[in-house]
Amino acid sequence: MALELPSLPYAADALAPVISERSLRMHHEGVHASYVKRLNTLLEGSDQAPQSLEHIMATGRGEAQACACQAWNHTFFWQCLTPWHSPMGQSLEHAISERWGSIEAFQQAFTASAMAHFMGGWTWLVYTPQGRLDIHNAVDAGSPLLRKLSPLLAVDMWEHAWYVDFGSDRRKYLQKLWGIINWSFVEQCLEDAVATSQGRRNLRPSWEV
Ligand SMILES: [Fe+2]
Repeated sequence: MALELPSLPYAADALAPVISERSLRMHHEGVHASYVKRLNTLLEGSDQAPQSLEHIMATGRGEAQACACQAWNHTFFWQCLTPWHSPMGQSLEHAISERWGSIEAFQQAFTASAMAHFMGGWTWLVYTPQGRLDIHNAVDAGSPLLRKLSPLLAVDMWEHAWYVDFGSDRRKYLQKLWGIINWSFVEQCLEDAVATSQGRRNLRPSWEV
């Protein structure tokens, strides 16, 4: 059975004016869909039973692994954004402030990390196996899952993510993005990561494909 492109968790015009409908459709129906389509093409020639994206990410090689990572990363990224106001909860605010000193300091560190990308890539807030929050830059189709890091927040730093709405101004893209982050989703991911690391839970989050 072929992998399918997951629907966006909101309407294509819902993130405007930060991300326009044109940009979001191009990104979801164009870029994201192309990774799913290409992965299905690559898997067609395989006699293996259909596997989850996570399995292909963990065991695949070359283009198949890269396409699986990109498909997974994009699905996660859509969940990190919301048109509905989603303020940061107290426990997440406390965890971030404890790690970076303040929310503003975290955002500055995250932005600096994201701006350091030379080519395409992703910037992540992650929960490490050592029980620490961290910022992780992944180049190309990199994923925290391949490094045993639990993803909490993803920001797509590939050019296709911002050039339609922001031209070459990546910093403005990042500044505007803070206003549409789904902090309740980030906080749920942190709760899941902590519970899983403590052996209290091992559930597949509902957003996964
Ligand atoms: Fe993208």
